[in-house]
Amino acid sequence: MGVEDLGDKVVLTSSNSTATILKYGATIISWEIEGVEQLWLSEGAKLDGSKPVRGGIPLVFPVFGKSNETGFENLPQHGFARNSTWEFLGQTTENPPTVQFALSPEQANEEIYSKWDNGDNDFTLFLTIQLNNDNLTTSIEVTNSDSIKSWKFNWLFHTYLKINEIEDTLVNNLPGELCYDQIIAETYKESHPAIDFHQELDRIYQNVSTDKIIQVIELGKVVHNVQRENLPDIVVWNPWIEKSSNMGDFQPKDGYHKMVCIEPGHVNDFVELKPGQSWSAKQIIYKGDVIKLQSI
Ligand code: BG6
Repeated sequence: MGVEDLGDKVVLTSSNSTATILKYGATIISWEIEGVEQLWLSEGAKLDGSKPVRGGIPLVFPVFGKSNETGFENLPQHGFARNSTWEFLGQTTENPPTVQFALSPEQANEEIYSKWDNGDNDFTLFLTIQLNNDNLTTSIEVTNSDSIKSWKFNWLFHTYLKINEIEDTLVNNLPGELCYDQIIAETYKESHPAIDFHQELDRIYQNVSTDKIIQVIELGKVVHNVQRENLPDIVVWNPWIEKSSNMGDFQPKDGYHKMVCIEPGHVNDFVELKPGQSWSAKQIIYKGDVIKLQSI
C-alpha cells in the first residue's frame, strides 16, 4: 500500500493493484489488477516528454481535436495538457491510495499554451487519481483563475483500454444515441444494438446520459466498465490498419487488435467558465462482469 515518487513518475499500490502515472501529461501509463494490465500502452510510446504518450490515459484540454473557433484555431489537436509536465502535489489519502496533480500556465507547455487565445487564459487544473481494489477513479477540476475574463474549454479522458482481440469485442449501451462519425463526417442515430469493430472507427456519441455505464464485452464477457460524472460525450476509437501504420509511435503495427479507446469527455460543445468559476468531472473504470443493458 502506498505512493512512491520515482522522479518522472508516481506509483500507487493497493493490496491487489498498481497504477503508474507519468508526470508528463499526468498520463496514467499502467493500471494492473492482480498483475494483469488493464490499459493499452504502445510499445513505441515516447515516455521522455518528446511527444504525448500513445496509450494509457492521456488528458485532453482545452480542445478536443482541432477547432476553428476563435481562440482555438492555432492550437494543435487535443490541446496542451497531454504535452505538459504537471506538478505532483502529493498524496491526499492513504487508503485508498490517492494522489493529486496540478497544471496552470506556469507549468504548461509554453509553446502550445501560448497558442490558446495568445496565452491569455488563466486556469488551474487539479487531477485526483484514486486507486481502489476494483476501480481506478480520475477526477478533474478546472478553474478559471482569471479575475476578469471568461473562457471556454473541452475536457476528455483519452482512455486506451486493453483487450485481447478487437474483432471479438463489443461496446454496449449506445444504441439510440446521436453520434458524429468522424470517418464519414456525418451525424446519425446509432441503430446497432452494440458497437462492433471491423474497420477504422472514430465516433463521438453526444449527450449520453451519465446513468449509462459503457461496457466493453469480449466473447460475451464484460472486461471493462466505464462510468462517468458530468462527462456527457463518449468518443469510441480504433485506428485499425491504415491509421495505425501512419502513427510512428503506434507499435506493434497490429496493436490495434489489442486496444479500444472509450473516451469520456465534454467535447460536443465547450464548457464556459466565468472568472473564479470551477467545473468538475469524473471517470471511473472498473471490473465487474454483469452485463447491464440500458436502453435510451
Ligand atoms: C481520438 C480522435 O480521440 O484521438 C481521433 O477521435 C484521433 O480522431 C485519436 O485520431 C488520436 O489522436 P492523436 O492526436 O493522439 O493521434
